[in-house]
Amino acid sequence: MPTRKAAGRAAGAWRFQLRFLAPLLVTLLAAALLALPLMDRMTLRWFSRDLNLRGALVADTLSDSIARAMADTPAASQSLRVLFDRAVRDERLVAVALCTSDGQLIRASAGFPEGLDCKAAHAAAADAEPVWRLPAGSVHVGWHPVASDSGPDTGLVLLHDMSFVDRRSVETRWLLIALIAGMGFVIAVSTVAVAQLSWRGWLEGARALLRGEGLVRPLAPTMPGLAPLADELRARLRDLEDEYRRSAAPEMLMWSPERLRVMLHQQLRDDEVIVVSNREPWLHEHTPGGIVVRNPASGLVTALEPVMRACSGTWVAHGSGSADRQAVDAADRVAVPPDDPRYTLRRVWLSAEEEQGYYYGLANEGLWPLCHVAHVRPVFRESDWRHYREVNERFADAVAQEAKRQDPVILIQDYHFALLPAMLRKQLPKATILTFWHIPWPNPESFGICPWRREIVQGLLGSSILGFHTRYHCKNFLETVDRYLEARIEHEHSSIVYQGAETRVESYPISIAWPTEIESAAWPDIEQCRSHVRALLGMQASQRLAVGVDRFDYTKGILERLNAVERLLEKYPQWIGTFCFVQIAAPTRSQLDEYRSFQLRIDAMVERINKRFGREGYCPVHLLAEHHEHDELTRFYRAADVCVVTSLHDGMNLVSKEFVAARDDEQGALLLSRFAGAARELREALIVNPYHVEETADTLHRALMMSPEEQRERMRSLRAVVRDNNVYRWAGQMLGDAARWRLRERIEARVERHGMEVA
Ligand code: G6P
Repeated sequence: MPTRKAAGRAAGAWRFQLRFLAPLLVTLLAAALLALPLMDRMTLRWFSRDLNLRGALVADTLSDSIARAMADTPAASQSLRVLFDRAVRDERLVAVALCTSDGQLIRASAGFPEGLDCKAAHAAAADAEPVWRLPAGSVHVGWHPVASDSGPDTGLVLLHDMSFVDRRSVETRWLLIALIAGMGFVIAVSTVAVAQLSWRGWLEGARALLRGEGLVRPLAPTMPGLAPLADELRARLRDLEDEYRRSAAPEMLMWSPERLRVMLHQQLRDDEVIVVSNREPWLHEHTPGGIVVRNPASGLVTALEPVMRACSGTWVAHGSGSADRQAVDAADRVAVPPDDPRYTLRRVWLSAEEEQGYYYGLANEGLWPLCHVAHVRPVFRESDWRHYREVNERFADAVAQEAKRQDPVILIQDYHFALLPAMLRKQLPKATILTFWHIPWPNPESFGICPWRREIVQGLLGSSILGFHTRYHCKNFLETVDRYLEARIEHEHSSIVYQGAETRVESYPISIAWPTEIESAAWPDIEQCRSHVRALLGMQASQRLAVGVDRFDYTKGILERLNAVERLLEKYPQWIGTFCFVQIAAPTRSQLDEYRSFQLRIDAMVERINKRFGREGYCPVHLLAEHHEHDELTRFYRAADVCVVTSLHDGMNLVSKEFVAARDDEQGALLLSRFAGAARELREALIVNPYHVEETADTLHRALMMSPEEQRERMRSLRAVVRDNNVYRWAGQMLGDAARWRLRERIEARVERHGMEVA
């Protein structure tokens, strides 16, 4: 039984066709009305011309006979009469008369109309339409001069029957009407058919394009000849979009909080922004001196905090500080930053068991080593997986509660929430979900050891846009999807269509907020920083300093770095007593065995090196295993001759960028692992393979020996890169892509609505 919706659609289709057909029919009618009299005239002219020619022929034939009859003066009248009566036996010829050139009738055949005299006949024959109307019908009047050698010049008047012209004219008229009606019918039918087909095709094409499938693909199966054209057009549209992205890359205007704010205002005006991460940007902690608030050591927080300051909104995160519960209101919200509130932090509480399973277990014993491929075996426990799923559900509920609108922009952060995008897609189908994976994505073989590889990838494909730091990680992800799911992948455009929904996979290299002039003006000068650090570590003024700043994590290559320092002192003994290395290592995930044993190994190694090369008043390696605030880190960066980053695998590594930003004196050398995402951007750093101890030791030596000029040249170029590719650009590009995504969805919704009306 047809539904009301189907009936509505049918009525809509008829309305559309009538709207289209009515003007067509009116046009055809007007054409017919104009064409018919025109046709009559033209027919009359053609026949007049023919009758004139025929008349000339008849006159020519009769001219000799007329001349002879005229010569026989006494019998002329009778001879002419006989001649003319014979002539009018021709069924077309109605009557004939001979007139003098001055209009006197000489002789007329029978049937010559009484009302027509020679003068009138002459005038009528000269008319464009030489017709004389009689009660019985119209006749054509022809005047044909007949030259005579003896007698006066005469004119032969021939009256031709025109009833056949009328008959033919009527026939032609009907034919014309039938032709126009037939044409109208054919045009109407074919137009309606083409209009229906192309409208549907266009609609489908537009929908498919908005889904990222291309404009005319739906026509291709029904019209196979169009397939190459459709593909070409589709490719062109995608190319244009890609070109747009590329052309937006070299920007004249530097990204700043202000520019980000303007961009958000222009492109995501009134849109709601919600960030979700495990680590919260502000922790309230109990200390002997009371409750203190601090930023945790997290690259993710370093990057997102300035973005949230710029765009306000809500940040949903795990409340993990010991005094967090005291700081929130009844809805678990607190305005942050504490000294200048700009956005809302919504805390989600986890039980110790949940934290153990979801955070320590699946996220940090499973996914972290799995994605970093740093030779630490991932551990996968069924109970961890259960907690991970449950906590992801809890966060989905919290985000849905916080959302004031149906279609917020949700920025999901990192490997703690691989299942959250698909969960949120169910709760808030209209949301634009942007997921950023802050750690590397391994190749499909490495990822394949995860028992829940399919579920994790499916979860991430709930995102509208999925971001990684580098193209290489995007490629690994696309290949992983290709290996484990039935999805359509467009490698060229980096997009995946899975179960009818599209996810765009893009690279967005994360960065830091470039210090403002006010901030850098407040830094102690380089000499002050050096004195401060020397005093702290008991160093002498002549000693050179290299610094490493990391979380105390096995992926950071701290062991390899220490090996390189030991080898340096071994291979280049001139550095014994003249070179110190300080490792700042913020304790992290210390509940996990792997981390505890790693920290113990590092302790032991530092002790060994110091024993081997240290002496009275000289300690080659300092290990500061505690959290340092940003100002303190800046002092170390500014005091150092070299900053050493030797990650075994790192999504980006922001320490390298922080070091560069802190060196406004354009001095200092950066030694950077080729396995950190940052190595793809910071080309003027000294790039090393941290697994190669000899190479790293040699490079460290080279860094210490680098002339101030070379340091300046390299540092200048590094600073330009970090300044331009700052965190506001990272956020701006992601949010810009989200805005374009939303625009496409709005157009799609409009096309869909219009399509419902019409189809
Ligand atoms: C990396 C991860 C972040 C994490 C940070 C600190 O940067 O990508 O998601 O917040 O490490 O780790 P933690 O476990 O202390 O949050």
